Amino acid sequence: MIRSLLGAISLAACIAPVSAQTVVSIQREAEIGTIEPEVYSQFLEHLGGQIYGGLWVGEDSDIPNTDGVRDDVFAALQALQVPAIRWPGGCYADLYHWRDGVGERVPRENMAWNGTEEPNTFGTHEFFNLAERLGAKTYLNVNLGSGTVEEAADWLEYITGTGETALAQERRANGRSEPWTIDYLSIGNETWGCGGRMRPDYYADLYTHWASFMFADEQDPVMIVAGPHDGNIEFADEVLDHPMIGEVSSGISLHFYTLPTSDWSAKGAATAFPESEWASALERTLRMDALIEETLGVIDAHEHLGDDYGLYVDEWGMWVDETEGMPALWQQNTIRDAVVAALNLNIFHKHADRVPMTNIAQMVNVLQAMILVDGENMVLTPTYHVYEMFTPFHGATSLPVELDGPAYREGDIAIPALSASAARMSDGRLAVALVNADARDEHVISLERMGARSVSRRVLTGDAMDAHNTAERPDRVAPQAADIRTEEDRFTATLPARSVSVWIIE
Ligand code: AHR
Repeated sequence: MIRSLLGAISLAACIAPVSAQTVVSIQREAEIGTIEPEVYSQFLEHLGGQIYGGLWVGEDSDIPNTDGVRDDVFAALQALQVPAIRWPGGCYADLYHWRDGVGERVPRENMAWNGTEEPNTFGTHEFFNLAERLGAKTYLNVNLGSGTVEEAADWLEYITGTGETALAQERRANGRSEPWTIDYLSIGNETWGCGGRMRPDYYADLYTHWASFMFADEQDPVMIVAGPHDGNIEFADEVLDHPMIGEVSSGISLHFYTLPTSDWSAKGAATAFPESEWASALERTLRMDALIEETLGVIDAHEHLGDDYGLYVDEWGMWVDETEGMPALWQQNTIRDAVVAALNLNIFHKHADRVPMTNIAQMVNVLQAMILVDGENMVLTPTYHVYEMFTPFHGATSLPVELDGPAYREGDIAIPALSASAARMSDGRLAVALVNADARDEHVISLERMGARSVSRRVLTGDAMDAHNTAERPDRVAPQAADIRTEEDRFTATLPARSVSVWIIE
């Protein structure tokens, strides 16, 4: 019954034009595909204040914890239904020697990130136990850059071994009898850069060589090739030319960061930025759509890969200038970050049939974090709230959306002020995400009602372009329930400037 009511919501079709109202039209009959829950995955690198202090405090800490993992952070992550976590990097993956982090721990310098001391108290057991407690899938990035194929193969046997082999027994001696599951596996990271500055054909040879020895006992992880970033898509083209790459991989990754200025030497500030940098950040982030299309075009040009070869956007998010006195890559997170997150999630919904996983960078205290932790205090960021508000999209069926809305203009920049995505949940209800990227003006939208019984919405907005949460004001940017005007034939609502909304229609 609910389904048939929703079937009628082909929004906007018969609505008389109303001035200054944007009509959002959802095409229910033309499904894009399932939004895999893994589109909402996380990325956990040994970097700055993320693992130590952020997530992991150790069993002896005064901060409440379970087996060393902070209880407050764990509960916050649990509420996000984190589907998968990528670990241990990033650039750090190509420096990580797994034996340092099992049994007796071996401290090392973290040469990927300022040579800070890495105590290795958070290692294989701690990561896989965390994922297991969260019910999250695991995405392991093995060390191609400074490791050996033997070391990586041993790590897999240690993690997944079911028999009486020396490595499976060593894992048991270290406290874990059952094997863990490796769901996704990548060999190397940014191999064109920090992962070894390799030419694409050299990497393709190494990848196919190593992949031939990545045995995960009785398991079949999704194998991901480390791919390009926004500036070198041709890297994907050349790696995928390898005639055997499709035999040993199921997809390739893409990295794309949103720098407000697009300039790596002066990225722009996290707070107190001019409106020009609100606009330029959003203009840049919207390039994700074209980048996905372009990379999919490269994949499709390689027929030997088959039809199901995926694109894994396993690093993306805001990257601004560092804050003096804070750990590496710590940055404040504002309503601008929330809008960036929602715009990208709408893009991923649009490509649900080809993008099975994305990993925002990163989870705690690093880049566009879900959570900022300082000593005992934990703050949920505006980006966290977007991820929580969007949980109805996990596993839902993405539907095409049409929207011909106003432009948001600032200086030379003109971008669409509004963005929308929609999906049918498994219980037949419809989830609709609406973003107003306009820094100044609210906009009114309408959806055709077509017999739907009820509708509710939650709205996230900020009272300034850089509105953010702090220990003193933890709920300055937090979702609020808001009304929707229900008329006989349509729903109408005002989207505040700088806002993200999720509607549930039944
Ligand atoms: O996310 C931070 C870094 O950005 C990662 O370690 C690296 O892969 C990328 O360059």
